[in-house]
Amino acid sequence: MMLHIPAVLSREQVAACRRLLDQAPWVDGLATSGKQAALCKQNLQLAEDSALARELGSIVLAALGRNALFVSAALPARILPPYFNRYEGGGQFGNHVDNAIRIDPTNGQRLRTDVSTTLFFCDPDEYDGGELVVEDSYGTHQVKLPAGDMIVYPSTSLHRVEPVTRGARVCSFFWTQSMVRDDWKRQMLFDLDLNIQNLRQQVGDNAETVALTSHYHNLLRLWAEL
Ligand code: NI
Repeated sequence: MMLHIPAVLSREQVAACRRLLDQAPWVDGLATSGKQAALCKQNLQLAEDSALARELGSIVLAALGRNALFVSAALPARILPPYFNRYEGGGQFGNHVDNAIRIDPTNGQRLRTDVSTTLFFCDPDEYDGGELVVEDSYGTHQVKLPAGDMIVYPSTSLHRVEPVTRGARVCSFFWTQSMVRDDWKRQMLFDLDLNIQNLRQQVGDNAETVALTSHYHNLLRLWAEL
């Protein structure tokens, strides 16, 4: 499932982050890749242990916690500290698949990458190229979103970032281990949750909406790993 979540950060929050990101000490993005990815990766990123990355990361994580769509779609168990990257001057990241297991640098714990998320800090008219291209069983999807919006997609998919030929593309990127490992099961739970919410808005609570809510929680109880 791919999901576009609009306005995760307000315009004010984006502007405040951009002021910090525009003066940030960017380093070579190869610091965090596996060998195969390193062959096709050409970008810059914030050093993951820098105070700035931690400060910006905490803004992103706080926004995620308030975002009902993200919580319902990703069913997060744990989220790795967000990365921040910058593509410019032809920078790109060729087709690759993300490592299945990553180490959380804050506590040394292993995390399974189920859900990938990219949060945009630049508007599409600020740069040329830089589309996130995701290939899944339904085809190829090109993504370039307004600043403050984010795209959520399964970490199992092959994906790339097209070369940036004008301006700079600045994004945050992070992985989530979901309570529900299987993308199809997560999608079914998400669809069910959205429809229950819509139904409750239309008819209020009745015996049927309570029964459907119970059904949702029983499926989650059956499938969730904590
Ligand atoms: Ni990737």
